[in-house]
Amino acid sequence: MPAFTATAPGKIILFGEHAVVYGEPALAVPISDVQARATIQAELSAPPGQMQIIAPDIGLKSSLHDLAEDHPLKRAVQEVLDHLDIPAPPACSLTINSTIPIASGMGSGAAVSTAIIRAFSGFLGHPLPAEQVSKLTFAVEKIHHGTPSGIDNTVIACEQPVFYQKGEPLQIVSITQPFTLVIAHTGISSPTGEVVGSVRQAWKREPDRYEDLFSAVGKIAREARIILERGTTVELGPLMDENQALLEEMGVSSPELEALIQGARAAGALGAKLSGGGWGGNMLALAQEEQARRIARALTRSGATRTIINRVESSG
Ligand code: PMV
Repeated sequence: MPAFTATAPGKIILFGEHAVVYGEPALAVPISDVQARATIQAELSAPPGQMQIIAPDIGLKSSLHDLAEDHPLKRAVQEVLDHLDIPAPPACSLTINSTIPIASGMGSGAAVSTAIIRAFSGFLGHPLPAEQVSKLTFAVEKIHHGTPSGIDNTVIACEQPVFYQKGEPLQIVSITQPFTLVIAHTGISSPTGEVVGSVRQAWKREPDRYEDLFSAVGKIAREARIILERGTTVELGPLMDENQALLEEMGVSSPELEALIQGARAAGALGAKLSGGGWGGNMLALAQEEQARRIARALTRSGATRTIINRVESSG
């Protein structure tokens, strides 16, 4: 069997994080400048059933067998075996690399799972369609945090801008007018599960207040979709600022995120907000294309440890 390689992009949520867990819609786009890559290589000299997992980014080199049952890399492999009804893997090695920052709101866990599921199913001679890859990735996401909304696996597996609402059929958003995002990392990694858990506690304490916040965020996501499809993308800026104010009220922002958001606005961004779980990770700013580099430099001065300029357009 030849070596088989597959990749998966990162993602960024434009609008609707947290509210999406409670059934409101959210908008997310793939970010292909960063990606996870999985390569499967047949190991003809190894005994059947032996799979070696190598993930240099996290210093992991182990046999599949020795990983805990709930290890996300093992789960991704196992989901493919179970789905294809194959009792054990052929002797092979799986190497995983990723340029997506971990625990930062860019879907690194979902992208790694998607790359593994694509590579392994292809290697086994049964490449899976995007919808199935998304379902298997979702099953692995549940280990990362108990109640994922499903947005990460959806946008990453279909590699298109999506308007996502739990339980609803997939809705691809066509971007009429491309636009530029500057994404900046606070340098603080923040596991999504902890922030989602804290919002859940707060919602249980104050259900009415939190449900009002969630529905206000949902309204913004719906408006943003219309703007994207109408092609007047500068109008997204004020909506980002409004969404950020609601995320601050939810308690998921942080001083570091706000320093970057203010830095971006002062440098001419049309709007800015945190993206993903919050408390750290990434923020994003909407930029006129010619201003993007200036905004990225301002973000570095405001404390960003990494910036990415990304042009968002419909693919295909
Ligand atoms: O931090 P990320 O990129 O995994 O995004 C989390 C988005 C949340 O809405 C906070 C959680 C979810 O499952 O949708």
